[in-house]
This record gives sequence, C-alpha cells and structure tokens, in this order.
Amino acid sequence: MKIGIAKERRQNERRVAASPDTVKKLVGLGAEVTIETGAGYSASFTDEAFTAAGAQIAESAQAALGEANIVLKVQRPLTAAEGGTDELALLKRGAVLVGILSPYAAKDQVAAYAEHGVDAFAMELMPRITRAQSMDVLSSQANLAGYKAVLDAAAEFGRAFPMMMTAAGTVAPARVLVMGAGVAGLQAIATARRLGAIVSATDVRPAAKEQVQSLGATFVAVEDEEFKAAETAGGYAKEMSDAYKQKQAALIADTVKKQDVIITTALIPGRPAPVLLTEEMVRTMKPGSVIVDLAVEQGGNCPLSEPGQVVEAHGVKIVGHLNVPSRLAVDASALYARNLLAFLTSQIDKEAKALKIDWEDEIIKGTALTRDGKVIHPTFTGEGA
Ligand code: NAI
Repeated sequence: MKIGIAKERRQNERRVAASPDTVKKLVGLGAEVTIETGAGYSASFTDEAFTAAGAQIAESAQAALGEANIVLKVQRPLTAAEGGTDELALLKRGAVLVGILSPYAAKDQVAAYAEHGVDAFAMELMPRITRAQSMDVLSSQANLAGYKAVLDAAAEFGRAFPMMMTAAGTVAPARVLVMGAGVAGLQAIATARRLGAIVSATDVRPAAKEQVQSLGATFVAVEDEEFKAAETAGGYAKEMSDAYKQKQAALIADTVKKQDVIITTALIPGRPAPVLLTEEMVRTMKPGSVIVDLAVEQGGNCPLSEPGQVVEAHGVKIVGHLNVPSRLAVDASALYARNLLAFLTSQIDKEAKALKIDWEDEIIKGTALTRDGKVIHPTFTGEGA
C-alpha cells in the first residue's frame, strides 16, 4: 500500500488530507506514506512532524503521487484548464483517489477519472448510516464552519454578544437567528449561546426542533402537515413546496426584522442552496446587523452575498467567506484526515496489509464514482461518461 498526499493547490485551501496522527496509524496498518514537502504547512503540520510519524517527504507533487496506489486529497484534482498543473495526470492508472471530489459541480471530471483508469471515491457522498459516522466529512467540516461563522459574525458586529450590566449602563444581548439547523447550524447555535446571545433557529426538518431547543434556542417554523412529512429517510432536507416556502417566508420575514445577526446554513445536496433571506428582508434589518451566508458557494441563502467577500447592503454587512472549514485549517485537517483514515481502515485487509475494496459494501457503493475505467455511480452514469 503506497499512499501519496500532495499539497492542496486550489485557492483558499489551507487543509491537508493527512495529519501526523493519521500517518502514524496508516503506517501501523502497513502503508508506506509519501507526502509532498510543505503539504501540511498551512495547517501547521511540519515535514518534520510527518517524518516523525513515519512518512517519507517528497520534493514535488509528482514524486508524492506518481507511485501511489492510494491518493488522498482534500479537494478534487486540479485540471490543466484550471491551474496549469494537471493533478489527475500525476496519478498512475489503477490508483484509488479519495477526496471531496464535488461530482455534482464537476461532472466532466468524473468521466476524466474513468478515462484515466482511476477508482475515485467522493467522500461527501458517504451514506449517513451509523457505521459511517466517523467517515462523514460533511459533518466534520460543517461543524467547524458553524462555529467559525459565529466568530466571523462577532468580528464584523459593532456590538457585543452578551448582556453586560455595567456602571455606565446595560448592553443588550445580541439576537442571533440561525437558518438551517443541521450540523453547521447546531454548532452555530451552541457557539452563539456560549457568547451570550439570544438565539433562535429555523429548519424544514421537524427533527431539528428538538435539537434546537435542547441547545437553549427557540425554534421558528410553520409547523403544518408538509413540515411534519418533510423528513426524509437519509436525514437530508428535500425541496419544499412553493406554498410552504411562502408561509415560512412570511414568518421568517417577521422574525428577521428583530435580529442583529443571521447565520444561514441551508443546503440541499446536489442542488443550489435555497434563497431564505431576500433583499426585501435584508432591507428590514437594523443598521449594523450582520449576515453570514455559509451557503455562498452553493449560490447562497441570501442573494446579496458575494463569494469570498464582505459586502454592505442596506446598512447590513453580509459575510460570504469561501471554504470556511479551511479557515480553521488545523482542526479541519485533523478531523478530515481522521474521516479518511476511518474510511480506508474499513477497506484494508489487516492480515495481508493491503487495500481490499469490498465493492458490495454500502459505504463503497455510496461513494465510488468510477471503477476499472468506467463511471459506476448511479447518479453519474450517463452524465458525460
Ligand atoms: P445540510 O448541510 O445538507 O443542510 C443544512 C440544514 O439546512 C439542514 O438541516 C436542512 O434541513 C436545512 N435546510 C434545507 N433547506 C432549508 C430551508 N428551505 N429552510 C431552512 N432550512 C433548510 O445538512 P447537514 O447539516 O449535513 O445534515 C442535516 C441533518 O442530517 C443533521 O442535523 C442530522 O440530523 C442528520 N445527519 C445524520 C447523520 C447520520 O445519521 N450519520 C450524519 C450527519 C447528519
């Protein structure tokens, strides 16, 4: 088992797909791990720490990946058209590629993996079953993003979060609304509560109500029959009807006016993010309020948010940082690397010390995009394959 890890070269990407901790464990499982020099620097992992964990350091991406039969990535390989380096071309035929491969956004690349003879696994497609919780990259990264979103809001906000009673007068607590109470939203609620804010939250999944309340926040939702029927088996949200969206929007519009900070996190896998905060609603907010749109990369929950920028509209600051997990690169890398380790461990034959992919395993069926030169994932077969 030769595992190769190169420096991530996409813009705004500070994470790395291995940590000294996971390298040590992979070496213990019988792997030879080669890491490109400097691959961990932006996540504060030095070459020396990787070496001490048992990795070899390579001088280039080519040297790190060229011989590898398993390549671990954070983001999908760069194409020649995107950045000069064709990272896929560095992989040898028959190599296994594991990463957050964004197959919905980059369907052509799925076909390219097949053409190149690479068996590619998209970690964000991991089924949400109990056994795969330790491999759930969406959860590990969204949790950190939810935390960071609140800190980003606090940094832009010209007021304090907690109530403060001082000799000079009382500072009112901030009111924070979290839209989308999934993994990121729940962590945002917990973080805003720890900072002393009065927090409310909204979601289309009825199960979120109890979770929101258990964190000490108020749940805001139109609780009709459709709401009750909305929870799908996989734990994801489905697209709601127009009628529901209108009713919810009216309730939200009324709630929005009273907020100081709004964190939006609503996503629908494989589709553009739903618009939850319209320009009209932003107009009703108090001057100096802050919105953090964590869905900005999927089109945004607020149409005024700009990818990678902090903009001001109608007196409200709208924060649209890209790749928020990468802003906490150390923890994000450590947890992501752990997710990959758990995934690989589940497919390693401990006796033979070799990768032995069980193609019938639910985890593999869910994440495998390509195998032996063919696109095999049911969602992507026929899509440019
Ligand atoms: P996500 O990142 O896909 O979406 C974020 C949140 O936005 C979700 O809670 C979703 O319901 C909500 N949302 C979508 N459209 C909305 C709208 N129009 N208005 C308001 N909210 C909207 O979801 P995430 O955070 O990845 O997971 C959601 C839930 O899935 C978790 O809270 C958990 O209950 C479940 N889950 C289960 C796992 C397991 O069983 N292994 C692992 C991870 C999550």
